[in-house]
Amino acid sequence: MPAMTVNDRPLEFEMDPETPLLFALRDAANLTGTKYGCGVGDCGACMVLVDGEALRSCLVTIAEAEGRFITTIEGLSRDRSHPVQQALVAEQAIQCGFCTPGIAIAAAALIQRNPDPSEQDVRDAIPNLCRCGVYPRLVQAVQRAGRVARRRETISAAPAPGIEAEDAARAVPGMRGGTSDGDGLGS
Ligand code: FES
Ligand code: FES
Repeated sequence: MPAMTVNDRPLEFEMDPETPLLFALRDAANLTGTKYGCGVGDCGACMVLVDGEALRSCLVTIAEAEGRFITTIEGLSRDRSHPVQQALVAEQAIQCGFCTPGIAIAAAALIQRNPDPSEQDVRDAIPNLCRCGVYPRLVQAVQRAGRVARRRETISAAPAPGIEAEDAARAVPGMRGGTSDGDGLGS
C-alpha cells in the first residue's frame, strides 16, 4: 500500500496504487482543500507540493507519490499565516476562491525558490486557470508575498479565522455523515 508523508503525518493509502493522488487526498484523507477542476492537468486547481515542487495531483498516482513529502493547502501553514496566504487576502486576489488553493501552492513553490519574482516569473510559474480572472491582482499578491518572505514588509491583517468543526457541520450537514434528523446536524 503506498505510504507517504502528508502535511507532516505518515499516511498509508489502502487503495489501488494507480489512484490519482488528488482522489486519495480528497476522498480518503478528507483533505478537500485541494480542488478537482479538470482532472486532466489543464487547470492547476489540484496542485500540491511534492517534495517542494508544485505538481498537479490529478496526474500523480499514489504509487508515484510513495515515500514523498506531500503538502496540501491545509499544511501550508497551521494558521493561514504563510506569506502567500496573507498576501492573497491582503491584495484581494480571490473571488470565488475555487482556484485559490492550487494558486497558493504554486505561488509558495515560486517564492521558496525565487522570493523576488518579476511579473513574467509569476506568469510563468503560475499557469493556473482562474475563471474569475484575478490575474492582475495575483501578480501583485505574489510579489508582495515575496517581500514578506524577504522580511521587507509585514502584513498586519490577522489571518482569517478558522472554522470550528461544529460550525462547519451546521453549515454543511453532509459533513457529519448519517441521516439528517431535522436539526441540520445529521446523526
Ligand atoms: S484538476 Fe488537476 S489540473 Fe485540473
Ligand atoms: S477566484 Fe474564482 S476561479 Fe479563481
